[in-house]
Amino acid sequence: MAVPIEPHFVDSNHDALYAESVNNPDRFWGTLARKRLRWIKDFDTVKDCDLKLGKISWFLGGKLNVSDNCLDRQVEQHPDRVAFIWEKDKTGDHETITYKQMLEMTCQVANTFKQYGVVKGDRVAVYMPMTPLLAAVMLACARIGAVHSVVFAGFSAEALKSRILDASCKIVVTADQGIRGGKAIELKKTVDSAVAGCDCVKNVFVMHRTGVQVPWVDGRDVHLEEAMKQQPTTCPVEPLDSEDPLFMLYTSGSTGKPKGLVHTQAGYLLYAGMTIEHVFDYRPGDVFACVADIGWITGHTYVVYGPLGIGATCVLFESTPVYPDAGRYWEMVDRLKITQFYTAPTALRLLIKCGNEHVTPYNRDTLRVLGCVGEPLNWTAWKWYHSTVGSDKCTVVDTWFQTETGGIAITPRPSSDHSTPKPGFPMSPFFGVEPVLYSKEGELLKGNDITGHLCINEPMPGMARTIYGDHQRFIDTYYKPHPGVYFTGDGAYRDADGHYQITGRVDDVINAKGHRLGTAEVESAMNKDHRIAESAVVGYPHEIFGEGVFAFLILKDGVKDDEKVIFEDLEKLVRKWIAAFAVPNVFLIVPGLPKTRSGKIMRRILRKVAASEYDQLGDVSTLANPSIVEEIKAKHMLLTSKEQ
Ligand code: PRX
Repeated sequence: MAVPIEPHFVDSNHDALYAESVNNPDRFWGTLARKRLRWIKDFDTVKDCDLKLGKISWFLGGKLNVSDNCLDRQVEQHPDRVAFIWEKDKTGDHETITYKQMLEMTCQVANTFKQYGVVKGDRVAVYMPMTPLLAAVMLACARIGAVHSVVFAGFSAEALKSRILDASCKIVVTADQGIRGGKAIELKKTVDSAVAGCDCVKNVFVMHRTGVQVPWVDGRDVHLEEAMKQQPTTCPVEPLDSEDPLFMLYTSGSTGKPKGLVHTQAGYLLYAGMTIEHVFDYRPGDVFACVADIGWITGHTYVVYGPLGIGATCVLFESTPVYPDAGRYWEMVDRLKITQFYTAPTALRLLIKCGNEHVTPYNRDTLRVLGCVGEPLNWTAWKWYHSTVGSDKCTVVDTWFQTETGGIAITPRPSSDHSTPKPGFPMSPFFGVEPVLYSKEGELLKGNDITGHLCINEPMPGMARTIYGDHQRFIDTYYKPHPGVYFTGDGAYRDADGHYQITGRVDDVINAKGHRLGTAEVESAMNKDHRIAESAVVGYPHEIFGEGVFAFLILKDGVKDDEKVIFEDLEKLVRKWIAAFAVPNVFLIVPGLPKTRSGKIMRRILRKVAASEYDQLGDVSTLANPSIVEEIKAKHMLLTSKEQ
């Protein structure tokens, strides 16, 4: 008998539904798409994929609008329900915005963009602080079929510029300043430097966040709120194909050039809504808080599209975990009566260090689910989250996903799975996700208690569809390494019970301070210094950041400058070309790098040295210069002895 597919699952049928989701994805997702999304025109084909060509399509022939689903449809049912609780940087200063207000604000932004000539398919760069207007800008793009490219407001002008140019953005939306941790961030000034020389940019829209006077380019710059005031609060939605692009989001890969991953409409929205409901056990009346910045995929999916798509009430957090003190999160939980809280392990480790006296004064009884994402949630942090924050009463969900998967893919499932959680394990695949492990050599690894490259058998509806402007890179990165499956770039361990633990990246990407960073990006920024002959960046275990950034440097012959001066200059370069979060934690000048005979740097060895795991360097005999390893080791030992 066919498994009934309900919009709201009940505990008992999870396994049967999971089996249905992977064995009969057309029926599973087709049923849910019709039940959970509002269509302007029904789709005729659920799925059409050809992974060798990197082709992923869902709900073909269908037309819908994401902004209609997130706003109009919700307003028809509950206009006065709170969509966002905007928790401003200044503590205690929160504002609520209803679904009706969000819809009106979004329509005014959409009409403004239209007035300035933005049409379907145009790319819109967004470099804004965490405000409801940022969400409205995204939804306004969705409403008219423009494609937003939100760039995290911590990125430098150069990083922003390269993203604007890569996507040929027609407009940029920013604010006079941002404000975080009590400090002003010069967003408009950064945009001015980024946009200089970008001929594609016709207008820069500026929202008022702090109200300071900022430099103004007449004819190009537009006061966003003033322009919005002239516009009606209604705006018809553009009917879009399921596979029209919704947004692009840049993320780091193994090369120096970030990739603009493209997500599309229906599959992404369906998957976002399904995951927030089932991973976090979201129920009507709950107050969901995802404190990630909207500049990352977690913010796109779990601050904006996931919550609004299911009519949830969501906290939009502008501040930092330690402002004005390390009790910020828990004071906010108490004040706003938060039921689900979603953060990154690095923030938890920072807070553990600050002491429990910042947690215990606040009432956390409303909390039911505590989530984490971005890097492994180590045992100590898991335990603290569970016991100290959750008073041993909440479910902790260590969720695994990526910019590429669009939404959570491996996770404990509180709404349906009451098996004992395993600290450090995201554990089980979500509906429709079939994880598989491959050896480095490309052999499918069967059975349990085994480690390999983490791949996914069939693309879920929320997966990225391409890399903007470079589909071949998309195929080469994700679908070529292990033909026929999606390669995540992560390693994973499948334990004796079949549960998954992520062992870390197997490519040249690191997860530092909760941010994904390509080592090649940092190297190419540092290599711009005239004194650097070569550099190699690796990640190493860091107590708080998860991974720290370690830079090995070779100086050009004859360079006599003081090391400290060089390191300061390199720091400035990394800030200029990427962002402050990418600045290496450690610099070490070495006489050479371990290289194979074909000239490839053996990063495996550098990672072991950086982690002081000198006894695990492995076989160095295949190196062109084996003796260099001892020299690097000696340099590293000297550095660590100085630090102690
Ligand atoms: O290495 C994995 C790590 O974060 C990477 C994805 O980074 P990004 O695209 O920036 O998205 C981060 C937030 C979704 C993954 O390839 N990662 C994510 N979640 C976990 C994790 N590593 C271990 N455990 C997790 N729960």
